[in-house]
Amino acid sequence: MIADQLLTNVSQLVTAPGRGARRGAAMRDLEITRDAAVAITNGRVMWCGARTDWNGTAKVEIDAAGCAVVPGLVDPHTHVVWGGDRLADFEARTSGVTYEQVLASGGGIRHTVACTNATAAVELLALAQARVVRMMRAGATTIEVKSGYGFTWDNERRQLDAVRALSAHVPAQLVATMLFHLPPRDPRDRLEYMQHAVREFIPDLARDGAATAVDVFIERDAFSVDEADMLLRAARHVGLACKAHVDQFSAIGGLELAVQHGALSVDHLEASGPAQIAALATVTTVGVVLPGVTLHLGLRAAPARALVDAGAAVAVGTDCNPGSSPLFSMSLAMALAVRLNGLTPAEAFSASTANAAAALGLTHVGRLAPTMCADFLILHGADWRDLPYTLGEDAVDRVFIAGDELLR
Ligand code: NIG
Ligand code: FE
Repeated sequence: MIADQLLTNVSQLVTAPGRGARRGAAMRDLEITRDAAVAITNGRVMWCGARTDWNGTAKVEIDAAGCAVVPGLVDPHTHVVWGGDRLADFEARTSGVTYEQVLASGGGIRHTVACTNATAAVELLALAQARVVRMMRAGATTIEVKSGYGFTWDNERRQLDAVRALSAHVPAQLVATMLFHLPPRDPRDRLEYMQHAVREFIPDLARDGAATAVDVFIERDAFSVDEADMLLRAARHVGLACKAHVDQFSAIGGLELAVQHGALSVDHLEASGPAQIAALATVTTVGVVLPGVTLHLGLRAAPARALVDAGAAVAVGTDCNPGSSPLFSMSLAMALAVRLNGLTPAEAFSASTANAAAALGLTHVGRLAPTMCADFLILHGADWRDLPYTLGEDAVDRVFIAGDELLR
């Protein structure tokens, strides 16, 4: 075998085994190969195993210097295209105003929508690019990006266009999702909005491939379960995947609805209780927990421990956004999931790699095995556990995407 590159001198090569999402106790099984090597051709892994078992040649060697190597992290939930800031909300919350009060009074998300729509396209792209660069440096090599700060049809499109443009400027794989974030406040506009979404906007998205999934924020002050049902039904009808923001503040049936629609993921889950945990225990829908929100808003932590114990597949994301989670580091999200959500280091690892890929419906990232994308991180130390242990991005030394090193 002749490889383009051979990654060698790897103390531990760590990956979730198998295919697809890992669920329940299986999230703790990791495959760890000591003194390993990885052969890469055309940006894909062609072989990996114990270094002494490699009997091919390679044009280039990458020396991991005796450090651990893990798959590039997959961030399954971000909102990185935004304009303006939420610093005033942040400060107000420290004197007791809640996120929900800010939202109900017309601020919060609506403020970011106004700022985003007032930002020129080129500036919006530059802001998002700078954020994605930070995220890649912290170890994310595949990143989902939602719209949802546009509200009007043209502005939602503009956000999705920004994701497409951004893809050409960064090496990370970006996955665009259309987020139905908040409905119009006037009930008459709301009906018309729903009709246009279902009859025209969602079918158009599928036709031109601007997004691969539809996400709905299901909450008392956002879309109702019935409205979400209409939106997700329309998405499925045209072959788009479904996702939903559910149980962030209240469990009003959003999780159950999304599961019925075969959603790829249900995200947030801070207010999920025993009934919602049972509903996720045996289905393919992945539960995505977002510890940055717990930290930033002081919400109850999503019950990831109970979900894994019940047999569910759990993933972790940053939810990078200006209002509820200004968190740019997937490695920190992984580390926080251990502290705040009660995952073990191995479970948090599976949640941030293989399961996060499954939450996006992707089969070629999130693991290091033959045919997978050669997206990997060389850590600073010899033990992979430094990654969920370290609070920040310092555990990640070098980042490779499709075999190419991200330059600092
Ligand atoms: O995932 N929950 C709703 N949407 C975002 C927050 C967006 C914002 O506050 O700007 C979330 O938390
Ligand atoms: Fe979100």
